[in-house]
Amino acid sequence: MDPVKNPYTPGAGTRPSELAGRDEEIESFKILLARLRDARPEQSQIITGLRGVGKTVLLNTFEDLAEGTGYLTAFRELTQETSLPELLAKDVQRLLRELKLSAKLANAVRASLSNLSAFKLTDPNGFELSIDIRKLSEQPLTDDLIELFLQLGSAAKAKQVGIAFFLDEIQFVREPEFRALISALHRAMQKQLPVTLAAAGLPQIPRLAGEARSYAERLFRFPHLGALDEPDARAALVIPAEREGAAYEEPAIKRALELTQGYPFYIQEFGKHIWNLAASSPVARDDVDRAAPRAEESLDRSIYEVRIQRATIKERRYLRAMAELGDGPYKVGAVAKAMGSTTTALSTVRQKLLDRGLIYATEDYGYLDFTVPRFDEFMRRNIPFRAPPRRNRRTS
Ligand SMILES: Nc1ncnc2c1ncn2[C@@H]1O[C@H](COP(=O)(O)OP(=O)(O)OP(=O)(O)O)[C@@H](O)[C@H]1O
Ligand SMILES: [Mg+2]
Repeated sequence: MDPVKNPYTPGAGTRPSELAGRDEEIESFKILLARLRDARPEQSQIITGLRGVGKTVLLNTFEDLAEGTGYLTAFRELTQETSLPELLAKDVQRLLRELKLSAKLANAVRASLSNLSAFKLTDPNGFELSIDIRKLSEQPLTDDLIELFLQLGSAAKAKQVGIAFFLDEIQFVREPEFRALISALHRAMQKQLPVTLAAAGLPQIPRLAGEARSYAERLFRFPHLGALDEPDARAALVIPAEREGAAYEEPAIKRALELTQGYPFYIQEFGKHIWNLAASSPVARDDVDRAAPRAEESLDRSIYEVRIQRATIKERRYLRAMAELGDGPYKVGAVAKAMGSTTTALSTVRQKLLDRGLIYATEDYGYLDFTVPRFDEFMRRNIPFRAPPRRNRRTS
């Protein structure tokens, strides 16, 4: 069918034609936005899930909803190198500017901000903030963020505007910085200020302890996104085509859902190739089967190979040994055994893989899993497994 009209959207954060299966999260975010403006407390969301399940797309949808109801927003994608305080300083100064405060209010905000310790107001007439890294230990950072959020929140309240922060790839945030942010949000909530944060990331969310943890539990729900269930996966596949006047025969749908297992990024990639290969509507089962190898090749290149290419030989061997054990999660000791090594000897390579987000520690202590769905299948398909020589085999 006409590739120009192809309605499927493979790609990181690419908005799908049909956002299937997210009604609940969207509805509660709408309620949050409405309640916050009425100074009523409400939990926001930290969305978790593996690679390609639709976290970024959902967070973008939240941002659109916020903007659509007059909120000012700030959206950031974190990386391993990100300094959260620096990003927040930039966002807060921009948001303060965008609030277009009266001279009186602006002066009051500046007066408060000039008392901060790690953050410094550098411009007497604006809101430029610089950061003194030497003072960036947890307590001053927490105190400063609380003050920043209280000032921003009060100014927003005075202007009857809400503020929404969005952080994607939240697994990369450093724990003390995250704790400081949680404390700041908590203070803003206690003061009934219209400031909120929604975030998304891999299942391994930064660990929080003590107060920050109990605050976080009050501030957020943690919806977990996985594969779409049958009706939603069907909608994600069929509705985009219907919008372009095309249909699927029932056996074609069944086959496509079987091959994609309901994973949003699989559905988009398969949908795209099926569309391009099918001569005409309705799409038949045979069209799906013909498109499958191309879709798989495309997924291998776009999702899996890039990740493998960035891994060192040792890291690759580790990932391959995991895959050799079948479906995850994988016991750390069992992976070491499969490599003929010990958990201690492998701790560096394991940590590297964790830091770079290729694997994550599951909730069960001592277990790991891949962060990309079906990575194990890819590894088994494409990379040969090198069993350890017998004489080196040791138990861990
Ligand atoms: N609810 C949905 N229904 C249909 N397709 C979706 C849905 N959510 C996301 N997609 C599609 O799935 C793909 C992945 O989406 P997205 O980039 O948001 O995932 P992600 O969870 O942020 O992945 P990553 O962890 O790699 O950042 C995109 O091609 C997007 O169009
Ligand atoms: Mg994403």
